[in-house]
Amino acid sequence: MRTEGGVGAETRPSERSAGGWALEVELAGLRLANPTVLASGVLGTSASLLARAASSGAGAVTTKTLTLHPRRGNPNPVVVELDTGLLNSMGLPNPGLEPFLPEIRAYRSSGLRSPLIGSIWALNSEEASTMASMIQEAGANAVELNVSCPNASKDELDTIGSEQLVRELVEAVRRSVSVPVFVKLPPLHWGLTKLAGAAVDAGADVLVATNALRGMAIDVRARRPILSGITGGLSGRALKPVALRAVYELYGEFGDEIQVVGVGGVQDWRDAVEYLLAGASAVEIGTALIYRGLSVFRRVASGIEGYLREEGFHSVEEIVGAARRG
Ligand SMILES: Cc1cc2nc3c(=O)[nH]c(=O)nc-3n(C[C@H](O)[C@H](O)[C@H](O)COP(=O)(O)O)c2cc1C
Repeated sequence: MRTEGGVGAETRPSERSAGGWALEVELAGLRLANPTVLASGVLGTSASLLARAASSGAGAVTTKTLTLHPRRGNPNPVVVELDTGLLNSMGLPNPGLEPFLPEIRAYRSSGLRSPLIGSIWALNSEEASTMASMIQEAGANAVELNVSCPNASKDELDTIGSEQLVRELVEAVRRSVSVPVFVKLPPLHWGLTKLAGAAVDAGADVLVATNALRGMAIDVRARRPILSGITGGLSGRALKPVALRAVYELYGEFGDEIQVVGVGGVQDWRDAVEYLLAGASAVEIGTALIYRGLSVFRRVASGIEGYLREEGFHSVEEIVGAARRG
């Protein structure tokens, strides 16, 4: 392990519940009180919202993806609610990295235990390196390199699927920070293991699977796409089987070298346990927060604990990847 992620308050000794079922997990050296993580883009836009997620039971929190320069994002409409999930074409709106750094510092000085993962989107190695150093300096416990935003512009979207670019970006981040490097992947089928392999070779510590799936919706009366960005990222329930398959494949291919985090459609403990069994060491939660509120973190965590107890396990680690072992 190349990292020194387990620093500060996150390295408290394991806290086992009275029955002996521990929810605590280690992710690239970071200690999480339970395996639920706030996904990027949903709530992580300020220190106070990150803190609310952590106080509501998230084992770790991820910031909204930040870019070096401010981005306005797409004009409205940017969200369509579907019966199977949510389509969004936000387009990475954010104030730019520098103005956001005080939010990271404020979160870190709040005393909350849940590690903070800083999400960044960079267009080249130089940007990636600068941003990663700045975000680590501000106190982020890990950097999540987003190479999979479904709402980037056409040119930017070329990152998705470009092994060479992913390799360069991950190498640049790896060289610039000592905290763990997470790489957030798209829900590709063909090419996913090659793209992930480039990230692993370049020194990533954790693979996060997956970002939203590109989709669209059409207004039949207006006879045109509903989203201003035409296409958007599909998240929520419809994404779960796709992201679950990605986790299972990545764990099978790289599980001996690297940890995987599952994200896509986690609404309850069953969804989370499926991801753990497929090979995820933790799960990120996004869309479910919009429909079910912040109590999702505690409900999912206590449901996982109940499952461990009922099935006779004593730690989350015991079930990670169990579906591959039969
Ligand atoms: C409104 C919205 C905004 C998002 N913004 C980001 C983002 O800035 N960066 C990122 O990596 N993922 C972003 N995502 C994707 C989520 O982090 C997550 O990968 C995806 O939604 C699947 O998880 P879920 O089904 O639990 O939402 C966003 C998702 C939604 C719904």
